[in-house]
Parts: sequence; C-alpha cells; structure tokens
Amino acid sequence: MKQLQDKVCIVTGAGRGIGRATAIAYGREGAKVVVASRTRATVDEVAKIIRDEGGTALGVTVDVGHKDQVFAMVDRTVQEFGTVDVIVNNAQGFGTEAKPQASTVYVAIEDTNDDELYYTFKTGCMGTLWGMQAVFPHMKEKGGRIINFASGAGMIGNPGNTSYNATKEAIRAISKTAANEWGKYQIIVSIVNPALRTDAFEAWEKARPEYVKTVRESIPLKRLGDPLEDGGPTMVFLASDGNRFMTGMTYHLVGGRYMP
Ligand SMILES: NC(=O)c1ccc[n+]([C@@H]2O[C@H](COP(=O)([O-])OP(=O)(O)OC[C@H]3O[C@@H](n4cnc5c(N)ncnc54)[C@H](OP(=O)(O)O)[C@@H]3O)[C@@H](O)[C@H]2O)c1
Repeated sequence: MKQLQDKVCIVTGAGRGIGRATAIAYGREGAKVVVASRTRATVDEVAKIIRDEGGTALGVTVDVGHKDQVFAMVDRTVQEFGTVDVIVNNAQGFGTEAKPQASTVYVAIEDTNDDELYYTFKTGCMGTLWGMQAVFPHMKEKGGRIINFASGAGMIGNPGNTSYNATKEAIRAISKTAANEWGKYQIIVSIVNPALRTDAFEAWEKARPEYVKTVRESIPLKRLGDPLEDGGPTMVFLASDGNRFMTGMTYHLVGGRYMP
C-alpha cells in the first residue's frame, strides 16, 4: 500500500524546486496531485512527469498572491477529484510586484521598501492564509493535512531580510493558530524550514556568497539537501495518515543546522 494512495494533494509552487520534488514524491506514493504554479510550461512538465511514472496529476496555473486564483485552484481541484486531503503552501514571491526577484536580496531594515514588504507578504503569508481558508470547508468533516513553509532566516532574524523574515514568521504564527483552532477537526498543520538546493537557494548564494558559505559550513551533515531525495520522504510523511498526533510543529529539514 502506498503512503498517499488516492489522497488529493495540492502543491503550490510546484513548477520548480521543493514544490516540484514534493509533487513528484506524492505522485510516486499514489496521490492525486494538483501541480500548481504560475508558469504553464513548468506546471505541464511536472504533471507529465507524474503521469509518465503511472501517477495522477492535474496542472493548474495560479498566482498565490491573488485570493480569487487561490480559491479557484481549490474549486478546480474539488471539481476534478471531489475533495482536498492535503495542501502544501510552498510558493513564495520575492522583490516587488513590479520587479520580482529570484530570492532575497540584502536590504537594511532602515531601507526596507513598503512595496517589497507588501509583495512578499501577499505571496507568502496571505497566499498561505487563503490556501488554508479555501481548503478548510473540505477538511472540516474528515480531517486533513496542511503543510506551510517557513525559513531559518525568519527564526534567527537574518540581517538584510526584513520582508522575508516577517512573512515567514507570520506564516508560522497563522499555522500555529490554525493548529489550535482546527485541531478538533483532526486537521494537522505542519511547518517546514528547509535547506535544500533549489533555484532560489542558488540565486541567494549568488547574491550573498560569503554569507551563504557560512550557512553551508554550519550544516552538521556538511551538504545542502536534495529536494527529492532528502526532502521527499519528510514531505510524504507530513502528508500521510501516519502524521496524526503532532500539530503546529516546525520541522527543520536542514541537515541539523537548527536543533531547537
Ligand atoms: N531552498 C531552500 O533551502 C529554502 C530555505 C528556506 C525557505 N525556503 C522556502 O521553501 C519554499 C520553496 O522554495 P524553493 O527554494 O523551492 O523556491 P524556487 O526554487 O524559487 O521555486 C519556487 C516555486 O514557486 C513558484 N512561485 C513563485 N511565486 C509564485 C506565486 N506568486 N504563485 C505561485 N507560484 C509561485 C515558482 O514558479 P513560477 O515562477 O513559475 O510560478 C517555483 O515553481 C519557499 O516558501 C521558500 O521561501 C526554501
């Protein structure tokens, strides 16, 4: 028996990086996967990989910074598969709406720009909140799994990342609130803090090579994780029925960098 057999799982930001790896890992475990991201070409590519491996996938384009699109993504999922069992709110925008960035770029707190704070928040905390609100009616009667993405940057108050740190810690706050309010419905909420090699991580490394070198060196396992090989099994477990008595927790998928 596969761990996610016939579970309906939405993964946002599934075109690349951690979202892509999670979607593929879920497909291999028998899930009906909704591959959701902004770019049609990558959405279709990931959905095809899942189908070519014998899995079930639906590609949906969504910008999680728009509430109507997030609710439409969930409606489309229910129309196709009848319900939602799991949502992974993984997508996160950087920069500003007018000038999006591939990752965070150092900006001192005194120079933090309102537009950057709003855009980072809209695509991070708000997109995550809307995803949670949209799936709630479908999970209320039977339980479910919500997996949201934080960052070690927010937890330590990484210098130069005010907007990103704020949205990532806000995501942890709303996740814990949901864990408290929705626990009675057996909706399990998990938070993931990753250190996995992706386009966003490489863009961050390019922007701040010296700082990121110290991050890499501080990982006891002495390597960055691979999104599929190292991230996949954890993401599958968090979505599975076996994850049933831990909620509101932050999981540090970071090779030991944080041991709180
Ligand atoms: N990699 C790490 O080590 C690390 C560390 C700490 C936290 N994180 C968090 O982990 C999550 C995934 O990061 P990643 O490294 O996999 O990023 P990534 O490689 O940049 O991939 C991000 C994915 O999200 C999509 N996306 C971006 N903005 C979106 C939006 N507004 N609506 C819908 N989709 C959007 C992107 O595709 P399109 O552009 O085509 O939409 C892409 O598929 C993020 O929440 C990030 O903050 C990652």
